[in-house]
Amino acid sequence: MARARKASSSPVSAGNPCPFLRALVAQGLLADGVEPLGKVTSTIVAVARTGEGSPALPAAAIWAIALIAHGLNPLTMARTKREGLRLSGLRDGPLDKHGAGSGILDANGRVVARELARLDEFASEQIGSSGQSERGLTLAQIRRYMDANFERAEGRRRALDRKLMDGEWPVLLKVMGRDGSGGRYLSVADVRTLVVDRELPKRMTQALAATV
Ligand code: HEM
Repeated sequence: MARARKASSSPVSAGNPCPFLRALVAQGLLADGVEPLGKVTSTIVAVARTGEGSPALPAAAIWAIALIAHGLNPLTMARTKREGLRLSGLRDGPLDKHGAGSGILDANGRVVARELARLDEFASEQIGSSGQSERGLTLAQIRRYMDANFERAEGRRRALDRKLMDGEWPVLLKVMGRDGSGGRYLSVADVRTLVVDRELPKRMTQALAATV
């Protein structure tokens, strides 16, 4: 698999609303354009493996999510299967919650500072495995955050949106989380790095570089 770029970051289209995929594009692991579903899946699985405790993501489920990302209509799915995932064109597909999520990225892919600050309101002080203290969210806090995001979107949300969230923040916790004294937590600083700098935590990019 490709080595993550270090010095410069590749441009990422506004049409990619997924903070995790945006970092993979910025770090040169996936193209901003079209990528075969197999490559998208293997890249995500390989990156996940560099997380703390070597998290294993289910390849078949990721492949299936990528397959439906541009639409559920059989013709659209056949095209996605044949041509691949268009990372620059993920908006307005079935996975787009149209603002019913965190709101950390606006519709143009820009970071909304007050929404990023709001994430911290759901966090608490966590003690990491090496004894460091930092702000982070446990799974219970992530669930409260997702429930609040869903609540405030009343009138402009689909019931499905709450289910989709379960495949976003909790998966990010699994991949990027750290083992702390109170269980696994998602570091607020790591989320900030992911969305603002479009970078994975340094410990993950270093582990990734060591695998090639
Ligand atoms: C084929 C794989 C994937 C596709 C097609 C995809 C697509 C998307 C899309 C379209 C959104 C925007 C949803 C919205 O309107 O808020 C999104 C958001 C998100 N995704 Fe992904 N994603 C994929 C994999 C992942 C993975 C592996 C992770 C975690 C490691 C992840 C974490 C997130 C998070 C945290 C959000 C933000 C939700 C929010 O702001 O509330 N995604 N993704």
